[in-house]
Amino acid sequence: MASSSVFRFLVLLAALIWILADEKNVTRERKRSPINGSWFNMGLMEFEKWSNQSGIFTERSRLCARIRGLTPGQRRVCRRHKDHMPVVSDGVKKGIGECQYQFQGRRWNCTVMGETVFGPLTFIASRETAFTHAITAAGVSVAVSRACRDGRLTSCGCGTGPRPRNLHSDWVWGGCGDDLEYGYKFTEGFVDIREREGKVKRGSREQGRQLMNRHNNEAGRRAVIAKSRVTCKCHGVSGSCSLITCWQQLASFREIGDYLRDRYEGATEVKVSRRGKLRLRNPRYSLPTAQDLVYLEESPNYCVKNESLGSLGTSGRECNRTSLGLDGCSLLCCGRGYNTKKIMMKERCQCKFHWCCHVKCNTCVKSTELYTCK
Ligand SMILES: *[C@@H]1O[C@H](CO)[C@@H](O)[C@H](O)[C@H]1NC(C)=O
Ligand SMILES: *[C@@H]1O[C@H](CO)[C@@H](O)[C@H](O)[C@H]1NC(C)=O
Ligand SMILES: *[C@@H]1O[C@H](CO)[C@@H](O)[C@H](O)[C@H]1NC(C)=O
Ligand SMILES: *[C@@H]1O[C@H](CO)[C@@H](O)[C@H](O)[C@H]1NC(C)=O
Ligand SMILES: *[C@@H]1O[C@H](CO)[C@@H](O)[C@H](O)[C@H]1NC(C)=O
Ligand SMILES: *[C@@H]1O[C@H](CO)[C@@H](O)[C@H](O)[C@H]1NC(C)=O
Repeated sequence: MASSSVFRFLVLLAALIWILADEKNVTRERKRSPINGSWFNMGLMEFEKWSNQSGIFTERSRLCARIRGLTPGQRRVCRRHKDHMPVVSDGVKKGIGECQYQFQGRRWNCTVMGETVFGPLTFIASRETAFTHAITAAGVSVAVSRACRDGRLTSCGCGTGPRPRNLHSDWVWGGCGDDLEYGYKFTEGFVDIREREGKVKRGSREQGRQLMNRHNNEAGRRAVIAKSRVTCKCHGVSGSCSLITCWQQLASFREIGDYLRDRYEGATEVKVSRRGKLRLRNPRYSLPTAQDLVYLEESPNYCVKNESLGSLGTSGRECNRTSLGLDGCSLLCCGRGYNTKKIMMKERCQCKFHWCCHVKCNTCVKSTELYTCK
């Protein structure tokens, strides 16, 4: 009897020591690496180089500790799904690339600045920040859904969405589609968890920011689903189409980017109520849906360089002299005017086709003008 209680006591003591030691390690780890930037910087990581290391996805690997910018909750998800991390990284890369495409030639052009990716500008709860959240969440959602279909992840596979009700009754629902549902759920778990960590005061600016981020992340994920479609394929001898199979397929990321850009243009300004809910800033506007982007603060003026804001300004940017749009010199240069520079461009010209088979060209020099903002 006595020996068993001594034994129990020893086990408890050992557990306690273990917990205390572990706790100490955790605090030490936290002190050593403050959370810099955010998980966005996974988009700058080069996982291809890491994939060479054997055992990177095993239980014991320190992969998750080496990814900077993860919150404790995200680190937990990471530990459970290590093989998802290169896919998440690809998704963020996609998002950044699309953001830069959609905003090229604009005052804010989605420049990547060091470790935090979008720089200090994302501290401002502007509509541009709203877009960065939506497009990265969409990128991750897409990358994960596709990786499932391609069999690159252990915990998912072909999409198992329900058969659309209006599908022709002879057609087979079943090809291997993108796993949109899994992509959505994983992204929600991994991306939104950071907005639920850390205690914030109800109705505070910080809480408003959490709600805003969650809303825009959701809008990004929904864009992926809204743009997806049923795709079918014919089978049978020489295309006889005796069998038709159909599945759910992702849209191209460009389509999703265009869709979210439209949402950006029509984003809704909101505020956080004392009860901790997002409310319309101007009650005359209509309520945003879950697909719409929302923002809390007006955008800064992206015209002038302001390092503390992380705004690069438009001085030195190339502009289009004849365009009346946002990329035109008058708007892009914010009325400061522009410089004109003559430049010589080498071009291939007077190309002749020689039988058979090569093309011979001369080099011509063409003079053009380059316009840059003052
Ligand atoms: C704490 O960290 C040290 C050094 O990093 C390590 O040797 C030790 O095993 C860790 N202890 C526990 C309980 O994880
Ligand atoms: C991380 O943040 C700390 C302070 O928050 C800063 O001193 C450090 O330079 C940052 N590290 C990098 C690599 O930016
Ligand atoms: C990958 O691993 C092989 C052998 O382990 C090594 O020869 C090669 O240099 C590595 N490549 C990179 C990019 O680290
Ligand atoms: C940068 O922006 C901040 C915040 O809007 C402002 O207080 C500061 O004066 C600006 N700095 C410059 C150099 O314009
Ligand atoms: C975006 O803007 C920055 C600074 O204003 C500029 O250096 C960069 O070249 C621009 N990128 C593109 C693709 O125009
Ligand atoms: C400048 O804008 C005009 C009118 O929008 C357009 O036709 C032209 O292709 C643009 N030039 C460049 C170099 O983008």
